[in-house]
Amino acid sequence: MSFIPCKPIFRLLTFVCLSKVVTANTYKNMSNLAGIYSVAYVTVPAEDVAKNLARSLVKNKLAACVNIIPGLTSVYEWQNEINEDNELLLMIKTRTDTVAALTKFVMENHPYKVCEVISVPIQNGSEKYLQWIGEIVPPIDERQE
Ligand SMILES: *[C@@H]1O[C@H](CO)[C@@H](O)[C@H](O)[C@H]1NC(C)=O
Ligand SMILES: *[C@@H]1O[C@H](CO)[C@@H](O)[C@H](O)[C@H]1NC(C)=O
Repeated sequence: MSFIPCKPIFRLLTFVCLSKVVTANTYKNMSNLAGIYSVAYVTVPAEDVAKNLARSLVKNKLAACVNIIPGLTSVYEWQNEINEDNELLLMIKTRTDTVAALTKFVMENHPYKVCEVISVPIQNGSEKYLQWIGEIVPPIDERQE
């Protein structure tokens, strides 16, 4: 009697079993709200631009909340020159499915030729706050426009 034919099967079962444990742990560690909401960052040159853009984004329900952070110093290369400018940062809370529409809106209403609009998904957060974002910003496919 030999167990040799069983060995590969045993290894396969161990592998399947381990994969399941890893997958289960990954899901256990992920909030069920992960990725539904996003933060977008936009830099602007002046306070009036920041306030106008922030108000328009909220009014058009492209964002639930915009924080205006003053006092940035931005160093960057533009047309072969190193520039240093004072800017403000908009920290925008919205739905992930709204980021494309938000980006389009910012590009159409921004004074720069190449404006910064970058976004990151929110991994987790206080449930009430995240749900509030969802109540203010309607899902993109439920908008009537
Ligand atoms: C999930 O969290 C547990 C306990 O905090 C940790 O031991 C485990 O490595 C995590 N799993 C993954 C896949 O991140
Ligand atoms: C997500 O955040 C909430 C609120 O802070 C917390 O109770 C929960 O444990 C978090 N879930 C994960 C998977 O990190």
